[in-house]
Amino acid sequence: MSQLDLLNIPHRPRRLRRTAAIRNLVQERTLTVNDLVYPLFVCPGSNVVEEVSSMPGSFRYSIDNAVKECKELWDLGIQCIDLFGIPEKKTEDGSESYNDKGIIQEAIRAIKKAVPDLCIMTDVALDPFTPFGHDGLVKDGIILNDETVEVLCKMSISHANAGADFVSPSDMMDGRIGAIRESLDDAGFSDVGILSYAAKYASSFYGPFRDALHSAPQFGDKSTYQMNAGNTDEAMKEIELDIMEGADIVMVKPGLAYLDIVYRTKERFDVPVAIYHVSGEYAMVKAAAEKGWIDEERVMMESLLCMKRAGGDMIFTYYAKEAAKRLR
Ligand code: PBG
Repeated sequence: MSQLDLLNIPHRPRRLRRTAAIRNLVQERTLTVNDLVYPLFVCPGSNVVEEVSSMPGSFRYSIDNAVKECKELWDLGIQCIDLFGIPEKKTEDGSESYNDKGIIQEAIRAIKKAVPDLCIMTDVALDPFTPFGHDGLVKDGIILNDETVEVLCKMSISHANAGADFVSPSDMMDGRIGAIRESLDDAGFSDVGILSYAAKYASSFYGPFRDALHSAPQFGDKSTYQMNAGNTDEAMKEIELDIMEGADIVMVKPGLAYLDIVYRTKERFDVPVAIYHVSGEYAMVKAAAEKGWIDEERVMMESLLCMKRAGGDMIFTYYAKEAAKRLR
């Protein structure tokens, strides 16, 4: 094209992409270390650090090492963890879940003592605590709702009693948020918050997590309580109910494949929205990176930024440490 043939256009969006300084200036959404929540797996014993085979770079820690890990997280600027526990024993009534000397309860106490300002959230669901690997109590192959909620309330109180800042019910039983809120309030824990896994899908992306916790369902799948991947209206209903029942923060889970749900949630409701960048998403990036097929660090940072752009206020991710290092 000669000089004379130049396009006569007033709008040239590329002007705003010409240099790094300009691109940074006009960037609409950013990821910060404040947005990151680190999921932490605790197991019985002492001096245990066991890599999860399907999640390279993620570990099960005994409480002593979990405490060390939390100090490291804090030094990296990560201010919040979500605790998952492997109990000493699994029982059909899931009673280890509300044992005051149970794995999660002891972990909360030890971590609070060592890193008092770290915000501790705890997973509330029964899957690691019964031999069935389902999130609720099981009778004749059915996942019981109301009986499960009763146990979740006891579990929540015992976590609060040990010092949890938030309980995070991830079980998808009906009515559990209201019941847990009332139980916490009655027990004097009105300051303990609830992060509800409100729109949690029956997803195949959770496979590596179930390896980590030895909690794969022993029969059937979770589709009588977790949501169908084809639905979005149903997610709005779940989220609305949980907010009405007293959820302080709502979560959409998994992450990348469900960002339309995050967007819709943020458009419609005025509460903080969490996204869980789940184990299968992490494992896929790790595996492709090991093969040299993708640039792990760039794919990780892009994925997390896209979650912010879609409307996520916080992201639960096994990549929290790597991202925090990168953000420094
Ligand atoms: C269980 C629970 C699961 C996850 C968080 N809490 C698994 C499941 O529902 O089967 C998944 C997290 C991940 O895959 O990273 N209540």
